[in-house]
Amino acid sequence: MTLSTSNLLGIKDLQPDDIRLILDTALQFKDVLQRPVKKVPSLRDVTIVNLFFENSTRTRISFELAEKRLSADVLNFTTSASSVSKGETMLDTVNNILSMKVDMVVLRHSASGAPHFLAKHIPAAIVNAGDGINEHPTQALLDALSITEATGGLEGKKIAIIGDIMHSRVALSNIYLLNKMGAEVTVAGPPTLIPKYIKEALGVNVTYNVKEALDWCDVANVLRIQLERQNQPLFSSLREYNLVYGISRKLLDSLKKQIVIMHPGPINRGVEIDSDVANGNESIILQQVENGVAVRMAVLYLLANREG
Ligand code: NCD
Repeated sequence: MTLSTSNLLGIKDLQPDDIRLILDTALQFKDVLQRPVKKVPSLRDVTIVNLFFENSTRTRISFELAEKRLSADVLNFTTSASSVSKGETMLDTVNNILSMKVDMVVLRHSASGAPHFLAKHIPAAIVNAGDGINEHPTQALLDALSITEATGGLEGKKIAIIGDIMHSRVALSNIYLLNKMGAEVTVAGPPTLIPKYIKEALGVNVTYNVKEALDWCDVANVLRIQLERQNQPLFSSLREYNLVYGISRKLLDSLKKQIVIMHPGPINRGVEIDSDVANGNESIILQQVENGVAVRMAVLYLLANREG
């Protein structure tokens, strides 16, 4: 089995078989990560650069750890310490790095479409680690693995995605993936943070009532408000957001069943999710982070070993 694509730009381009292959491979790497010796030689002599033009904690560390566990040679690049601040274009920066014989590029950028642009101009394999408000494919894949572990599968599962849907690449990648794998999606949040025609465009259910979404779902994926991507106020205050849309213990206790709580991080305690929910029994937030390393190992391994 091999991936149908030579880059991972988005879930939009993947076939269900690609997603199954990545998740199955990730499970094998997860076993490796439980061993006392967590390192395998799979990517020895492969050089990978992590190009982060935008802030990141989890995703950057997770990619770097995945690369090191696979024995790849790893370079890290962050814009604040680079010649981008001296006026160099992204393409020139990348071509300079590639001339030093780099095989793969992991790219995070605040501009939607940056990795797609790069893929048209460079021969190295590209993994999108988040492009603007477009996609964050490895997050959706690690979320899929986490949902599968928590509930037994994706097919027929009901997933609520709650919060700032409009500015979230995590939401879009999750919606593409869950639709392809036969899960049902409802998005919930304030009307100003949900795109107007999302139901028609992406085939999801929409509600502005969080309790209704929670009553319906098996799993709630709670998202941060992406304030850095909003240039005008889209809700009255963080306090009011918490009161109306925040996930509280009281709200969870009012449901007639137990649901699974997810969050891609970084969490804003007391805004979209209360502390006792983030730390509670239903929460698989740290399992998601753990699964991220295995999923990224799988993606890098499969792209590097692609046939054809
Ligand atoms: C997300 C991101 O950067 O897209 N975080 C992540 O990668 N785990 C979500 C966010 O920033 O809120």
